[in-house]
Amino acid sequence: MRDKTFLMIPGPTPVPESVMLEIAKHPIGHRSSEFSKILERVYANLKYVFRTQNDVFVYTSSGTGAMCAALENLINEGDKVLSLVLGNFGNRWAKIAQSRGAEVEKIEVETGEVIDPEVLRARLAQDVNKEIKIVTLTHSETSTGAANDIKTLCSIIREHGALSVVDGVTSICAMECKPDEWGIDVLVSGSQKGFMIPPGLAFLVANERAWKVYEQCKHPSFYWDWGAYRKSVQGASTPFTPAVNLFVGLDKALEMIKEEGIENFNTRHARHCRALRAAIRAIGLELVVKEDKNASHSITSIYPPEGISVPDIRKTITQDFDIVVANGQNALKDKIFRMGTLGFVCDRDLISAIGALEATLYKLGYKFELGSGVATIIKELAK
Ligand SMILES: Cc1ncc(COP(=O)(O)O)c(C=O)c1O
Repeated sequence: MRDKTFLMIPGPTPVPESVMLEIAKHPIGHRSSEFSKILERVYANLKYVFRTQNDVFVYTSSGTGAMCAALENLINEGDKVLSLVLGNFGNRWAKIAQSRGAEVEKIEVETGEVIDPEVLRARLAQDVNKEIKIVTLTHSETSTGAANDIKTLCSIIREHGALSVVDGVTSICAMECKPDEWGIDVLVSGSQKGFMIPPGLAFLVANERAWKVYEQCKHPSFYWDWGAYRKSVQGASTPFTPAVNLFVGLDKALEMIKEEGIENFNTRHARHCRALRAAIRAIGLELVVKEDKNASHSITSIYPPEGISVPDIRKTITQDFDIVVANGQNALKDKIFRMGTLGFVCDRDLISAIGALEATLYKLGYKFELGSGVATIIKELAK
């Protein structure tokens, strides 16, 4: 049967039909009053979703574009950047900083682990001359499924005085994140994750502390320039030709998020993640992130049972059930598989996904108590 695909990868994620229908309409002029009205609503609703009083910029790019927009407006050659690395995406910050000529130091952790706040505190305490200008960190590290305690880490960074630059690509919408209250200086995200729209838009919010650093940047980026974007947000426009159809879809999706309520949206993700983790344990599989408190609410990474390969699991669940789960990345390729529960995901989706996973493992010869995962997820979701 066609047209039944359920994307359980950590982006792109499922898109509601009502959003797709908006996107399918004819493009409108990006300098028209009609588009300007859409932008006014979008900019206001983004502040609600990002829980900030600061302007949220929307770039026509993937999430990495917003990561570049963050660092390429802050870094001067030779600046010291400390990158807190849980996996692939933490490393991406380090690479972008290096590409701007920064001197990058990393604190790295083992797969599935998170940054220990005391390790960060100790490193920053050694920096008595306050040479570290920026600390980059990842809220939800999609490559492993681990999530940092951003609130605590950012408060430690604030005590030191460096800027905190946070990747919220798979956390915004899915996990509680309060940049103004928690002292996050720069926060970025992407559309194809919790926002329930296709890839193509990325978001950035910066506070006044970050703007002071931007003003000292000798060669700010042209395309990503914060100055141009701030002016445009305030004039309900965009500096360049944006992906207009995606903005129209975003307008609709933000309306849906507001209707559900951002707190409820976050809670739904937390509940789904908890239930999924319980079901995976009930089936007898091992989770990459051992402690529930360190788990991302958008992506769950799982080791395959002994003797059954990740490619076989992925192939069978797609062939038999049209469910797409993600492979591991880099060194974790074919070692783990990842199930995304990000954005437009409901209880029914999770129950079917666990049922499909059980059927897949059963077919591949894994010995376990059939139904244990489904029974567990039903009980967990009923709590
Ligand atoms: C945590 C995280 N950061 C950054 C990115 C990069 O985003 P994109 O692929 O949209 O450029 C991703 C993409 O999966 C991500 O999960």
